[in-house]
Amino acid sequence: MKKERENFGSRAAVIMAMAGSAIGLGNIWRFPYMVGEYGGAAFIVVYIFASLLLALPIFFAESIIGRRSGANTFGAMETLAPRTRWKWLGLLTIVSPVIILSYYSVVGGWSVEYLFKALAFDFAAASDAEVTGFFGRFIASTWQPVVAHTVFLATVAGIVLAGVKKGIEKFTKATMPVLFVLIVLIAAYSLTLPGSRGGVDYLLRPDFSKLTPSVVAAAMGQAFFSLSLGVGTILTYASYMRKDENLLASGLGTAASDLFFAVLAGFAVVPAVFAAGLAPGAGPGLVFETLPYIFHKMGATLPWASAIIAIVFFLTILVAALTSAISMLEVGVAYLTEEKGMDRRAATWALTAFAWVVGVLCSLSFGPLSHVHLLGNPLFDFLDKLCSNWLLPLGGLLFTLFVGWKMPRADVYDEFTNGGTLRANLLLFPLVHFLIRYAAPVGIFVVFLTDLLL
Ligand code: PFF
Repeated sequence: MKKERENFGSRAAVIMAMAGSAIGLGNIWRFPYMVGEYGGAAFIVVYIFASLLLALPIFFAESIIGRRSGANTFGAMETLAPRTRWKWLGLLTIVSPVIILSYYSVVGGWSVEYLFKALAFDFAAASDAEVTGFFGRFIASTWQPVVAHTVFLATVAGIVLAGVKKGIEKFTKATMPVLFVLIVLIAAYSLTLPGSRGGVDYLLRPDFSKLTPSVVAAAMGQAFFSLSLGVGTILTYASYMRKDENLLASGLGTAASDLFFAVLAGFAVVPAVFAAGLAPGAGPGLVFETLPYIFHKMGATLPWASAIIAIVFFLTILVAALTSAISMLEVGVAYLTEEKGMDRRAATWALTAFAWVVGVLCSLSFGPLSHVHLLGNPLFDFLDKLCSNWLLPLGGLLFTLFVGWKMPRADVYDEFTNGGTLRANLLLFPLVHFLIRYAAPVGIFVVFLTDLLL
């Protein structure tokens, strides 16, 4: 017997929860350093195209499958294509979000640690050498990052345990609007710093000679990661949507807020980096290494202002990471409770325990286990590459093929337009269906292949 399913309470709740999943470390930590590494504005242009032409169609595909079936990813495949090989897609998209959660939580833990450092005024008080060396020492140490990872993951589990409405909906609705205000304040501040102009130019003037197939593939992977696609998260959240919600509006609303947030985060981080005379290509350390240095420098003259901005900044990262991490955990919890009859508590703890163990190994891969390599990468990098470059695009590709080719067009039409009752959706349906059926799968495949061969 299937249990009664919970639903999100309102349209605002759906958009907040989906935006909460989308907006996360991908926007504040990953996007600015990818922009820095892959040549600035040209990367952003490709990223925007990838978001519109490839990511958004996957978003619609996942929402259509999720709401139509009203089930977890595995149950969705069994409902819409019973006893076919599509069940493997359902299973794949249960495993991949837990893998992401495990290493994501390590970075979530870093933001916990940095928030405490900011609260203790550490950035201003330390010497130059201490500040620049801190990140390297911290991630290479054994216990500190593991404890931080544990704190982060336990918080995630606590929110998921409370349920879809009382946990996820309540938390995202309370925090997402605050996040927007905070990131706008930080970006505005960053733009007032003397010397930030260079950063603005870097973000706005594209140099297309920097584009290579791997830059395009990285932009595509980033677009998928940022919108939480290809791993069943959006599918699962859409399964909690009521039948009268508008899939077009929630998709566009989520994608627009995600993009807006990423660009704001770019404007919060990159101009400050230029103002401090540092290079934007610092990689994953950009936010955790370069920004503390800026807070430190500022602290010499304005200790209070520097501490407050540092606190606000790391709090923003932490909350954004939490709202994303809960969505990763919910995918597996929905599966275990609905398909395996586990209660929510047991399902949540079982998956959290798995993510904790893998996360500990990822954390140690910066220190004691750094010599252990998988296909030439330490575990953390291996899993990040495996997920963003392979599992997400593969899952996304298969979701578009499923909706474009396996589901009857009439069902897709019915779901996307709420039985033909929504005008804008009716008008856009042929375009959306074309993007799902042809443009997105071909686009993903071509990017995959060129990256692999060139
Ligand atoms: N979209 C999240 C971010 O940008 O941080 C990351 C993410 C969340 C990826 C959920 C995958 C997922 F299922």
